[in-house]
Amino acid sequence: MISDRIDLSNWQHCDILTDDLWLFPNRDNQGKHKNIYHGNFIPQIPYQLISRYTKAGEVVLDPFFGSGTTLFECEKLGRKFIGFDINTKMFNYVQSRMMDSNKNFFTLNAFDNTDERVKYYIKKSLTYLNETQVSFAIFHPPYHDIVQFTNKPNDLSNCKSVDEFIDKFKKTLSHSLTFLAKNHYFAVIIGDIYKNSEVVPLSFLCMNMIKKHFKTKLKGIVVKNIEGNRGKLGAGGIWRYRALKSDYYIFKHEYIFVFKKEF
Ligand SMILES: C[S@@+](CC[C@H](N)C(=O)[O-])C[C@H]1O[C@@H](n2cnc3c(N)ncnc32)[C@H](O)[C@@H]1O
Repeated sequence: MISDRIDLSNWQHCDILTDDLWLFPNRDNQGKHKNIYHGNFIPQIPYQLISRYTKAGEVVLDPFFGSGTTLFECEKLGRKFIGFDINTKMFNYVQSRMMDSNKNFFTLNAFDNTDERVKYYIKKSLTYLNETQVSFAIFHPPYHDIVQFTNKPNDLSNCKSVDEFIDKFKKTLSHSLTFLAKNHYFAVIIGDIYKNSEVVPLSFLCMNMIKKHFKTKLKGIVVKNIEGNRGKLGAGGIWRYRALKSDYYIFKHEYIFVFKKEF
């Protein structure tokens, strides 16, 4: 039962958010977090999701680990971790940050999660961790091409169109969700983009694709404010001026979609 994962005897003092608007005044920069990667998320996001949807000792899968934010939260919270990223620089960086850590609770893989062979590596990682299934999966893909992460053709940030992006992301999900236990949860963290003078609701396109192709229940559409995001720091100044001069609104939020897997 999902409620087993939280100690409800102390529910009034528990720090798990239950509203669907998450406003964080500051990024948590404690421990291993360094905020060196353009396109990372704030540690409070994996902290909230892992605390809510897993128990200590369970396995979290992150197919887009980037700078290791989810891994560092797993280490702090005593969860096991399996991660993939196509960016070998980040693989080396995160490995170096884990030099002094217990190697028995995590695996890091520099591999393309859209490639079917990723399933072999997930299975191998589970065996290494002495487990058979993943308890929670977190997906933080590129927001199509707004930040280019590598020049590899299968990097989702190099997709030529939104349709190609959705199609490739579907492959990632299909490979990864094979290993998520039935009736367990996964989250997708994504934002919208602006192209050809209009908003492209990338997040809702992904959500629809998931509802259409995977038997799931949508449990939450959380809106998270991204005040303080490096790319938007000028929002009070030049971006506001440009928005007023033109006809659009400045993006300040991202979405966290939480799904329950029912297959
Ligand atoms: C938005 S970032 C994730 C950031 C991460 N959550 C963090 O806090 O640092 C997206 C990541 O997806 C990776 N990526 C893109 N396409 C991929 C693919 N096909 N397989 C694996 N990783 C991929 C990029 O290299 C990038 O590190």
